[in-house]
Amino acid sequence: MGCSFFFASKTRRLIFGYCDILAHCRTQIGIFLIGILATACGEDGPIVPPPVPPPPPDPRAGLIDTVRLLAEQRNLDPLLPPDPVRTELVELGRVLLFDKILSGNRDVSCATCHLPSQAMGDGRSLSIGQEGVGLGPGRTHPNGVFTARHSPALFNLHTSKQFFWDGRVELLDNGSMRTPANDQLTSEMEAVFEFGALSAQPMFPVFTRVEMRAQSGNEIADLPDTDYPLVWAALMARLSEIDTYRQMFEAAYPGVLFDDMTFAHAANAMAGFMVSELAFTDTPWDRFLLGNDDEMSDAALRGAKSFMASVRCMRCHETDQFDDRNGEFHNVALPQIGPGQETDPGSNDDFGRERTTGDPLDRRMFKTPALRNVELTAPYGHAGQFTTLLGIVEHYDEIDNRLANYDVSQLEPALQGTILNNFSAILETRDTILLDVVFEEGEAEDLVAFLKSLTDDAARNLNSLAPVSVPSGLSIDK
Ligand code: HEC
Ligand code: HEC
Repeated sequence: MGCSFFFASKTRRLIFGYCDILAHCRTQIGIFLIGILATACGEDGPIVPPPVPPPPPDPRAGLIDTVRLLAEQRNLDPLLPPDPVRTELVELGRVLLFDKILSGNRDVSCATCHLPSQAMGDGRSLSIGQEGVGLGPGRTHPNGVFTARHSPALFNLHTSKQFFWDGRVELLDNGSMRTPANDQLTSEMEAVFEFGALSAQPMFPVFTRVEMRAQSGNEIADLPDTDYPLVWAALMARLSEIDTYRQMFEAAYPGVLFDDMTFAHAANAMAGFMVSELAFTDTPWDRFLLGNDDEMSDAALRGAKSFMASVRCMRCHETDQFDDRNGEFHNVALPQIGPGQETDPGSNDDFGRERTTGDPLDRRMFKTPALRNVELTAPYGHAGQFTTLLGIVEHYDEIDNRLANYDVSQLEPALQGTILNNFSAILETRDTILLDVVFEEGEAEDLVAFLKSLTDDAARNLNSLAPVSVPSGLSIDK
């Protein structure tokens, strides 16, 4: 008896030292040893097998189970791709989005601020439209004119009902559309829209002077600021002079003559392009949800757990696309920089959602951005206040202190002096969900690892999205 136990414990420690990782290896060697010892010491009487210790808990397996359970409880599923869009419509949308003919002075296309080389944004905190020189981070304006807000990436917009940081183009719950053009966007135009409010969105950048229309120098700039239909009709008049456009429009809308079309047909085609070509649904996270454990690193799993539970990110970034399910807008205490959106002209402030709803309770609330491919879309925030992903994630750790200690040196020099001294006003409507969120050591890095698991590899190189040429023959920004 004594003999068998002595050997059993000593030898086991020796052999198991080498087999520590594999639990089943332990058990097998244990059984093997018991066999040998039973033969060696058999004469002493019946052998009592030593208890086989349970395998040590595998922390990774435990984490995987927790993350799966949390995802299930929060109804997270792999992101569904959109329905296919007819090719002719996509191709029309593609050339329109890259054609500078839609800007007053024929010098800016949608793609100038939504560049394939910059993950469909422009890699800048704030965009530069009319009169800008250069592209992306290197673009400059002779008089230092910026847009009020950061150019968002255009990914997976098929899941969204509200557009722009203040949701001013949106599909309301009752099915009606709300846009800055009010009744000037007619029911005939709405009837053309196939992609909800996204179809209406492209009707607005062409009207905005600082983005595409320009202050002067062309027939469209000369039109009054109150009349959307005149601007839209003037753009269609330009397109009508190019035969290739007439043919492409008629191919995209079989049975409708070009002369019976409005700019709504152009906008709807651009929406079709965005829906069809900018849906990215194959990420490590989606594959993990479909059952593949190996897709997520330990850090990404820890980050997913933090995101869904401990630090409350999912209270707002709550859908498969990680935006807000109920279309709620929030103030997450980002500092205000740049020219601001003219709520209170000259103040350089931006009241966000209040501009759309007129409700002071919505002051400084912004759309909760979706987070897929977020690794690729720096800078972050409605005015591009953070230039790194780690920077904006760390901002949520004791958020009020972070606002007070915001590092303005990350901004390009021209914007550094524009920061408003209004931190206490910002904190008045800061979402209380964020009040006592404090990160643990390493938690910000884990969250970043999780966010990087939301990248579809196909989005890393979007060069093939740009057409080879556009019907106007103008140059292409990409
Ligand atoms: C001068 C730069 C610039 C140009 C040109 C431009 N955009 Fe944008 N885009 C922006 C900025 C900045 C925003 C955010 C504005 C805001 O929220 O107030 C934006 C927002 C958007 C959004 C909303 C995305 C979301 O998630 O809410 C879409 C869609 C979009 N642009 C598509 C287009 C299309 C289509 C065109 C051409 C017709 C275009 N843009 C032209 C800079 C630009
Ligand atoms: C109270 C709602 C809310 C919570 C909670 C929240 N967010 Fe946000 N998040 C937002 C809103 C709203 C914005 C945009 C704010 C703005 O631009 O002013 C944003 C922006 C972001 C951005 C920038 C995305 C971009 O494209 O610019 C990232 C990244 C982000 N949040 C990650 C997180 C993480 C990680 C957590 C948890 C630590 C979190 N969020 C918690 C609402 C929230």
